[in-house]
Amino acid sequence: DCMSSRQLKKLPGFIDTHVHVREPGATHKENYASCTAAALAGGVTLICAMPNTNPAIVDEESLILVKKLAKENARCDYALFVGASSENTTTISDLASEAAGLKMYLNETFTTLRLNDLNIWNKHLANWPKRTPICVHAESQTTAAIILMASLQNRPIHICHVARKEEILIIKAAKEKGLKVTCEVCPHHLFLSTDDIDRLGPNKSQVRPVLTSPEDQQALWENLHVIDCFATDHAPHTLDEKLSDKAPPGFPGLETILPLLLNAVNEGRLTMEDIVNKFHKNPKRIFSLPDQPNTYVEVDMDEEWVIPEAMLYSKAGWTPFAGKSIKGSIHRVVLRGEVAYVDGQILVQPGFGQNVREWEKKLPNLLSEISRPPSMLGLDRAISPSPYHGFMD
Ligand code: DOR
Ligand code: ZN
Ligand code: ZN
Ligand code: ZN
Repeated sequence: DCMSSRQLKKLPGFIDTHVHVREPGATHKENYASCTAAALAGGVTLICAMPNTNPAIVDEESLILVKKLAKENARCDYALFVGASSENTTTISDLASEAAGLKMYLNETFTTLRLNDLNIWNKHLANWPKRTPICVHAESQTTAAIILMASLQNRPIHICHVARKEEILIIKAAKEKGLKVTCEVCPHHLFLSTDDIDRLGPNKSQVRPVLTSPEDQQALWENLHVIDCFATDHAPHTLDEKLSDKAPPGFPGLETILPLLLNAVNEGRLTMEDIVNKFHKNPKRIFSLPDQPNTYVEVDMDEEWVIPEAMLYSKAGWTPFAGKSIKGSIHRVVLRGEVAYVDGQILVQPGFGQNVREWEKKLPNLLSEISRPPSMLGLDRAISPSPYHGFMD
Protein backbone atom coordinates (compact mmCIF):
# COMPACT_ATOMS: atom_id res chain seq x y z
CA ASP A 1 0.00 0.00 0.00
CA CYS A 2 1.05 3.51 0.89
CA MET A 3 4.24 2.66 2.78
CA SER A 4 6.63 4.84 0.80
CA SER A 5 4.94 8.12 1.67
CA ARG A 6 4.72 7.26 5.32
CA GLN A 7 6.97 7.81 8.28
CA LEU A 8 6.83 4.30 9.76
CA LYS A 9 8.53 3.56 13.07
CA LYS A 10 9.31 0.14 14.47
CA LEU A 11 8.60 -0.21 18.18
CA PRO A 12 8.63 -3.18 20.59
CA GLY A 13 5.46 -5.15 21.32
CA PHE A 14 3.66 -3.26 24.08
CA ILE A 15 2.81 -4.74 27.48
CA ASP A 16 -0.43 -3.85 29.26
CA THR A 17 -0.28 -5.07 32.85
CA HIS A 18 -3.86 -4.08 33.74
CA VAL A 19 -6.61 -5.69 31.64
CA HIS A 20 -10.08 -6.95 32.61
CA VAL A 21 -10.86 -9.74 30.14
CA ARG A 22 -14.30 -10.61 31.71
CA GLU A 23 -13.95 -14.33 31.01
CA PRO A 24 -15.12 -16.33 32.91
CA GLY A 25 -18.46 -14.86 33.94
CA ALA A 26 -19.27 -11.79 31.85
CA THR A 27 -18.40 -12.73 28.28
CA HIS A 28 -21.14 -10.49 26.88
CA LYS A 29 -18.80 -7.59 27.90
CA GLU A 30 -15.58 -9.23 26.60
CA ASN A 31 -13.88 -12.60 26.29
CA TYR A 32 -10.36 -13.82 25.56
CA ALA A 33 -10.90 -13.86 21.79
CA SER A 34 -12.29 -10.30 21.62
CA CYS A 35 -10.05 -8.79 24.29
CA THR A 36 -6.83 -10.07 22.74
CA ALA A 37 -8.00 -8.98 19.27
CA ALA A 38 -8.49 -5.50 20.77
CA ALA A 39 -5.02 -5.75 22.34
CA LEU A 40 -3.32 -6.61 19.03
CA ALA A 41 -5.25 -3.91 17.19
CA GLY A 42 -3.83 -1.55 19.83
CA GLY A 43 -0.22 -2.67 19.45
CA VAL A 44 -0.33 -4.67 22.69
CA THR A 45 1.26 -8.11 22.37
CA LEU A 46 1.19 -9.14 26.06
CA ILE A 47 -1.57 -8.54 28.61
CA CYS A 48 -1.81 -9.26 32.34
CA ALA A 49 -5.41 -10.29 33.11
CA MET A 50 -7.11 -9.15 36.32
CA PRO A 51 -8.74 -11.69 38.68
CA ASN A 52 -12.08 -9.96 39.45
CA THR A 53 -13.97 -12.35 37.20
CA ASN A 54 -16.88 -14.64 38.09
CA PRO A 55 -15.71 -16.86 39.66
CA ALA A 56 -12.90 -14.66 40.95
CA ILE A 57 -9.41 -16.15 40.53
CA VAL A 58 -8.58 -16.86 44.17
CA ASP A 59 -7.56 -20.51 44.31
CA GLU A 60 -6.14 -23.36 42.27
CA GLU A 61 -9.50 -24.47 40.88
CA SER A 62 -10.39 -21.04 39.48
CA LEU A 63 -6.84 -20.54 38.15
CA ILE A 64 -7.03 -23.88 36.31
CA LEU A 65 -10.34 -22.74 34.77
CA VAL A 66 -9.05 -19.39 33.52
CA LYS A 67 -5.79 -20.97 32.31
CA LYS A 68 -7.82 -23.29 30.10
CA LEU A 69 -10.06 -20.50 28.76
CA ALA A 70 -7.07 -18.27 28.03
CA LYS A 71 -5.07 -21.06 26.41
CA GLU A 72 -7.91 -21.92 24.04
CA ASN A 73 -8.97 -18.40 23.19
CA ALA A 74 -6.20 -15.82 23.56
CA ARG A 75 -4.66 -14.43 20.36
CA CYS A 76 -1.85 -12.50 22.09
CA ASP A 77 0.44 -13.58 24.93
CA TYR A 78 -0.66 -13.17 28.51
CA ALA A 79 -0.05 -13.70 32.22
CA LEU A 80 -2.84 -14.18 34.77
CA PHE A 81 -3.28 -12.39 38.10
CA VAL A 82 -4.65 -14.09 41.18
CA GLY A 83 -6.72 -12.13 43.70
CA ALA A 84 -6.29 -11.66 47.44
CA SER A 85 -9.30 -12.56 49.59
CA SER A 86 -9.80 -12.82 53.35
CA GLU A 87 -9.88 -16.60 53.00
CA ASN A 88 -6.74 -17.23 50.95
CA THR A 89 -3.99 -15.50 52.98
CA THR A 90 -2.10 -18.75 53.65
CA THR A 91 -2.82 -20.60 50.40
CA ILE A 92 -2.65 -18.16 47.48
CA SER A 93 1.16 -17.84 47.60
CA ASP A 94 1.38 -21.47 46.42
CA LEU A 95 0.32 -20.13 42.99
CA ALA A 96 2.83 -17.25 42.87
CA SER A 97 5.17 -18.77 40.29
CA GLU A 98 2.27 -19.24 37.86
CA ALA A 99 0.74 -15.80 38.36
CA ALA A 100 1.38 -12.36 36.84
CA GLY A 101 1.14 -11.13 40.43
CA LEU A 102 -1.27 -10.79 43.35
CA LYS A 103 -4.02 -8.17 43.07
CA MET A 104 -5.41 -6.58 46.23
CA TYR A 105 -8.54 -4.40 46.06
CA LEU A 106 -8.40 -1.96 48.99
CA ASN A 107 -11.20 0.44 47.98
CA GLU A 108 -14.78 0.08 46.76
CA THR A 109 -14.95 -0.73 43.04
CA PHE A 110 -16.32 -3.31 40.54
CA THR A 111 -15.17 -6.41 42.43
CA THR A 112 -16.11 -8.93 45.07
CA LEU A 113 -12.53 -8.97 46.36
CA ARG A 114 -12.56 -5.85 48.57
CA LEU A 115 -10.23 -6.11 51.62
CA ASN A 116 -10.78 -3.81 54.60
CA ASP A 117 -8.90 -5.42 57.44
CA LEU A 118 -5.26 -4.33 57.89
CA ASN A 119 -4.48 -7.71 59.45
CA ILE A 120 -5.51 -9.38 56.20
CA TRP A 121 -3.41 -6.91 54.16
CA ASN A 122 -0.45 -7.76 56.38
CA LYS A 123 -0.83 -11.50 55.98
CA HIS A 124 -0.87 -11.18 52.19
CA LEU A 125 2.10 -8.76 52.24
CA ALA A 126 4.02 -11.23 54.39
CA ASN A 127 3.15 -14.45 52.58
CA TRP A 128 3.35 -13.45 48.90
CA PRO A 129 6.96 -13.86 47.64
CA LYS A 130 8.83 -10.56 47.43
CA ARG A 131 10.10 -11.19 43.90
CA THR A 132 6.57 -11.43 42.44
CA PRO A 133 4.53 -8.21 42.29
CA ILE A 134 1.63 -7.23 44.50
CA CYS A 135 -0.59 -4.73 42.67
CA VAL A 136 -3.10 -2.67 44.59
CA HIS A 137 -6.24 -0.69 43.89
CA ALA A 138 -5.48 1.91 46.59
CA GLU A 139 -6.88 5.42 46.20
CA SER A 140 -6.22 8.64 48.14
CA GLN A 141 -5.29 7.93 51.78
CA THR A 142 -5.24 4.21 50.99
CA THR A 143 -2.19 4.85 48.75
CA ALA A 144 -0.29 6.17 51.77
CA ALA A 145 -1.55 3.34 53.98
CA ILE A 146 -0.46 0.50 51.69
CA ILE A 147 2.95 2.06 50.97
CA LEU A 148 3.57 2.20 54.73
CA MET A 149 2.33 -1.35 55.33
CA ALA A 150 4.42 -2.79 52.48
CA SER A 151 7.49 -0.79 53.49
CA LEU A 152 7.26 -2.01 57.10
CA GLN A 153 7.76 -5.48 55.65
CA ASN A 154 10.40 -4.23 53.21
CA ARG A 155 8.47 -5.55 50.23
CA PRO A 156 7.83 -3.95 46.81
CA ILE A 157 4.35 -2.69 46.03
CA HIS A 158 2.85 -1.58 42.70
CA ILE A 159 0.12 1.09 42.80
CA CYS A 160 -2.46 0.70 40.02
CA HIS A 161 -4.08 3.57 38.11
CA VAL A 162 -2.67 6.58 39.93
CA ALA A 163 -5.11 9.41 39.23
CA ARG A 164 -4.83 12.19 41.83
CA LYS A 165 -2.21 14.78 42.71
CA GLU A 166 -2.13 13.51 46.32
CA GLU A 167 -1.42 9.98 45.03
CA ILE A 168 1.40 10.83 42.63
CA LEU A 169 3.00 13.14 45.24
CA ILE A 170 2.99 10.50 47.99
CA ILE A 171 4.53 8.00 45.55
CA LYS A 172 7.15 10.56 44.54
CA ALA A 173 8.00 11.20 48.21
CA ALA A 174 8.14 7.46 48.91
CA LYS A 175 10.52 6.89 45.96
CA GLU A 176 12.72 9.75 47.15
CA LYS A 177 12.97 7.94 50.52
CA GLY A 178 14.07 4.79 48.68
CA LEU A 179 10.86 2.84 49.35
CA LYS A 180 10.15 0.02 46.91
CA VAL A 181 7.11 1.46 45.19
CA THR A 182 6.23 1.48 41.50
CA CYS A 183 3.11 2.77 39.79
CA GLU A 184 1.05 2.93 36.63
CA VAL A 185 -1.18 5.62 35.10
CA CYS A 186 -4.10 5.03 32.70
CA PRO A 187 -4.82 6.93 29.48
CA HIS A 188 -8.22 8.09 30.77
CA HIS A 189 -6.59 9.90 33.68
CA LEU A 190 -3.93 11.43 31.40
CA PHE A 191 -6.26 12.47 28.58
CA LEU A 192 -9.69 12.95 30.24
CA SER A 193 -10.79 14.93 33.31
CA THR A 194 -13.93 16.23 35.01
CA ASP A 195 -14.14 18.61 32.02
CA ASP A 196 -15.24 15.59 29.92
CA ILE A 197 -18.15 14.57 32.17
CA ASP A 198 -20.67 16.86 30.41
CA ARG A 199 -19.83 15.26 27.07
CA LEU A 200 -19.91 11.67 28.38
CA GLY A 201 -22.82 12.10 30.78
CA PRO A 202 -22.92 11.07 34.45
CA ASN A 203 -23.30 7.34 33.82
CA LYS A 204 -20.93 6.68 30.94
CA SER A 205 -18.21 8.67 32.68
CA GLN A 206 -18.21 6.33 35.70
CA VAL A 207 -14.79 4.82 36.34
CA ARG A 208 -12.69 4.01 39.43
CA PRO A 209 -10.66 5.99 40.27
CA VAL A 210 -13.12 8.65 39.02
CA LEU A 211 -12.16 11.18 36.37
CA THR A 212 -10.25 13.82 38.29
CA SER A 213 -9.84 17.59 38.12
CA PRO A 214 -7.62 19.32 35.55
CA GLU A 215 -5.31 20.10 38.49
CA ASP A 216 -4.94 16.40 39.33
CA GLN A 217 -4.39 15.66 35.65
CA GLN A 218 -1.71 18.34 35.42
CA ALA A 219 0.08 16.83 38.42
CA LEU A 220 0.39 13.53 36.52
CA TRP A 221 1.92 15.28 33.50
CA GLU A 222 4.27 17.29 35.73
CA ASN A 223 5.47 14.09 37.40
CA LEU A 224 5.88 11.85 34.37
CA HIS A 225 9.31 10.82 35.73
CA VAL A 226 7.54 9.26 38.74
CA ILE A 227 5.27 7.12 36.52
CA ASP A 228 6.78 3.69 35.82
CA CYS A 229 4.11 2.26 33.53
CA PHE A 230 1.25 3.15 31.26
CA ALA A 231 -1.58 0.59 31.60
CA THR A 232 -5.13 0.73 30.27
CA ASP A 233 -7.26 -0.70 33.11
CA HIS A 234 -9.25 -1.91 30.06
CA ALA A 235 -12.59 -2.45 31.84
CA PRO A 236 -15.21 -3.15 29.18
CA HIS A 237 -18.90 -2.81 30.03
CA THR A 238 -21.45 -2.67 27.21
CA LEU A 239 -22.94 0.60 26.00
CA ASP A 240 -26.38 -0.45 27.34
CA GLU A 241 -24.89 -1.12 30.76
CA LYS A 242 -23.03 2.19 30.72
CA LEU A 243 -26.19 4.13 29.82
CA SER A 244 -28.19 2.57 32.67
CA ASP A 245 -28.77 4.23 36.03
CA LYS A 246 -26.55 1.76 37.81
CA ALA A 247 -23.72 2.15 35.31
CA PRO A 248 -20.79 -0.07 36.28
CA PRO A 249 -17.45 1.80 36.45
CA GLY A 250 -14.86 1.25 33.74
CA PHE A 251 -13.71 2.17 30.23
CA PRO A 252 -12.37 0.06 27.36
CA GLY A 253 -8.85 1.21 26.53
CA LEU A 254 -6.78 -1.36 24.64
CA GLU A 255 -7.45 -0.07 21.11
CA THR A 256 -6.93 3.59 21.94
CA ILE A 257 -3.97 3.74 24.35
CA LEU A 258 -1.16 3.65 21.78
CA PRO A 259 -2.81 6.08 19.33
CA LEU A 260 -3.35 8.51 22.25
CA LEU A 261 0.30 8.16 23.29
CA LEU A 262 1.56 8.58 19.69
CA ASN A 263 -0.61 11.67 19.36
CA ALA A 264 0.96 13.03 22.55
CA VAL A 265 4.40 12.48 20.98
CA ASN A 266 3.27 14.45 17.93
CA GLU A 267 2.05 17.20 20.27
CA GLY A 268 5.43 17.27 22.03
CA ARG A 269 3.97 16.19 25.39
CA LEU A 270 5.76 12.81 25.45
CA THR A 271 8.80 11.30 23.74
CA MET A 272 8.87 7.98 21.90
CA GLU A 273 11.38 6.90 24.55
CA ASP A 274 8.77 7.60 27.28
CA ILE A 275 6.38 5.23 25.47
CA VAL A 276 8.98 2.48 25.07
CA ASN A 277 10.09 2.84 28.72
CA LYS A 278 6.67 3.02 30.35
CA PHE A 279 4.75 0.68 28.07
CA HIS A 280 7.40 -1.95 27.40
CA LYS A 281 10.66 -1.87 29.36
CA ASN A 282 9.37 -0.97 32.83
CA PRO A 283 6.38 -3.36 32.80
CA LYS A 284 8.72 -6.10 31.60
CA ARG A 285 11.20 -5.39 34.41
CA ILE A 286 8.68 -4.83 37.23
CA PHE A 287 6.65 -7.95 36.35
CA SER A 288 9.68 -10.05 35.31
CA LEU A 289 8.14 -10.78 31.92
CA PRO A 290 10.21 -12.56 29.26
CA ASP A 291 11.18 -11.28 25.84
CA GLN A 292 8.72 -12.07 23.09
CA PRO A 293 11.04 -13.03 20.22
CA ASN A 294 10.44 -11.50 16.75
CA THR A 295 7.74 -9.25 18.16
CA TYR A 296 7.27 -5.62 17.12
CA VAL A 297 4.80 -2.92 16.17
CA GLU A 298 5.01 -0.61 13.15
CA VAL A 299 3.36 2.76 13.67
CA ASP A 300 2.62 5.53 11.18
CA MET A 301 3.39 8.85 12.89
CA ASP A 302 1.73 10.96 10.19
CA GLU A 303 -1.72 9.43 9.69
CA GLU A 304 -4.51 11.67 10.93
CA TRP A 305 -7.87 10.23 11.99
CA VAL A 306 -10.73 10.75 14.44
CA ILE A 307 -11.57 8.15 17.10
CA PRO A 308 -14.97 6.68 16.13
CA GLU A 309 -17.95 5.95 18.43
CA ALA A 310 -16.67 2.40 18.87
CA MET A 311 -13.36 0.75 18.05
CA LEU A 312 -13.41 -2.45 16.00
CA TYR A 313 -12.67 -5.32 18.35
CA SER A 314 -13.67 -4.79 21.99
CA LYS A 315 -17.20 -6.01 22.66
CA ALA A 316 -17.74 -2.88 24.78
CA GLY A 317 -19.10 -1.14 21.67
CA TRP A 318 -18.15 2.38 22.78
CA THR A 319 -15.13 4.45 23.79
CA PRO A 320 -14.84 7.49 26.06
CA PHE A 321 -12.36 8.99 23.55
CA ALA A 322 -14.84 9.14 20.62
CA GLY A 323 -14.46 12.29 18.56
CA LYS A 324 -10.84 12.98 19.53
CA SER A 325 -8.52 13.89 16.64
CA ILE A 326 -5.39 11.76 16.53
CA LYS A 327 -2.16 11.99 14.57
CA GLY A 328 -0.46 8.59 14.65
CA SER A 329 -1.76 5.10 13.92
CA ILE A 330 -0.85 1.44 14.17
CA HIS A 331 0.06 -0.10 10.86
CA ARG A 332 1.21 -3.64 11.61
CA VAL A 333 1.83 -5.91 14.61
CA VAL A 334 4.14 -8.91 14.43
CA LEU A 335 3.95 -11.42 17.31
CA ARG A 336 6.53 -14.22 17.50
CA GLY A 337 7.19 -13.92 13.78
CA GLU A 338 3.52 -13.97 12.68
CA VAL A 339 1.75 -10.92 11.29
CA ALA A 340 -0.99 -10.67 13.93
CA TYR A 341 -2.56 -7.39 12.77
CA VAL A 342 -2.35 -5.23 9.69
CA ASP A 343 -4.41 -2.16 8.77
CA GLY A 344 -7.56 -3.06 10.69
CA GLN A 345 -7.39 -6.83 10.24
CA ILE A 346 -6.59 -9.45 12.88
CA LEU A 347 -4.70 -12.36 11.32
CA VAL A 348 -4.10 -14.72 14.26
CA GLN A 349 -6.67 -17.11 15.68
CA PRO A 350 -7.82 -17.79 19.25
CA GLY A 351 -5.25 -20.16 20.75
CA PHE A 352 -2.22 -18.43 19.20
CA GLY A 353 -1.56 -16.57 22.48
CA GLN A 354 0.65 -18.18 25.10
CA ASN A 355 0.92 -17.97 28.87
CA VAL A 356 4.36 -16.42 29.36
CA ARG A 357 4.60 -17.80 32.91
CA GLU A 358 4.71 -21.25 31.29
CA TRP A 359 7.77 -20.22 29.24
CA GLU A 360 9.70 -19.38 32.37
CA LYS A 361 9.22 -22.81 33.86
CA LYS A 362 11.32 -24.15 31.02
CA LEU A 363 14.18 -21.71 31.68
CA PRO A 364 16.92 -22.34 34.21
CA ASN A 365 16.43 -20.35 37.45
CA LEU A 366 19.50 -18.30 36.74
CA LEU A 367 17.92 -16.63 33.72
CA SER A 368 14.91 -15.41 35.62
CA GLU A 369 17.23 -14.06 38.33
CA ILE A 370 19.13 -12.03 35.72
CA SER A 371 15.95 -10.37 34.50
CA ARG A 372 14.99 -9.22 38.01
CA PRO A 373 15.02 -5.49 38.63
CA PRO A 374 18.41 -4.31 39.93
CA SER A 375 16.36 -2.00 42.14
CA MET A 376 12.67 -1.27 42.43
CA LEU A 377 13.15 2.47 42.88
CA GLY A 378 11.23 2.83 39.69
CA LEU A 379 12.58 6.15 38.45
CA ASP A 380 13.53 5.85 34.79
CA ARG A 381 17.11 4.85 34.42
CA ALA A 382 19.44 3.30 31.92
CA ILE A 383 18.79 -0.42 32.04
CA SER A 384 20.76 -3.33 30.72
CA PRO A 385 21.10 -3.84 26.97
CA SER A 386 17.77 -4.45 25.35
CA PRO A 387 17.01 -6.01 21.99
CA TYR A 388 14.98 -2.89 21.22
CA HIS A 389 17.78 -0.33 21.22
CA GLY A 390 17.78 -0.28 17.43
CA PHE A 391 14.08 0.56 17.27
CA MET A 392 14.20 4.22 18.15
CA ASP A 393 15.35 5.68 14.85
O1 DOR B 1 -13.42 1.45 36.71
C1 DOR B 1 -13.05 0.36 37.12
N1 DOR B 1 -13.49 -0.78 36.56
N2 DOR B 1 -12.22 0.31 38.16
C2 DOR B 1 -11.92 -0.86 38.75
O2 DOR B 1 -11.19 -0.84 39.73
C3 DOR B 1 -12.52 -2.13 38.31
C4 DOR B 1 -12.88 -2.02 36.88
C5 DOR B 1 -13.76 -3.15 36.40
O3 DOR B 1 -13.41 -4.32 36.64
O4 DOR B 1 -14.77 -2.87 35.77
ZN1 ZN C 1 -0.76 -0.71 5.05
ZN1 ZN D 1 -8.69 -0.83 40.17
ZN1 ZN E 1 -8.77 -2.59 37.02
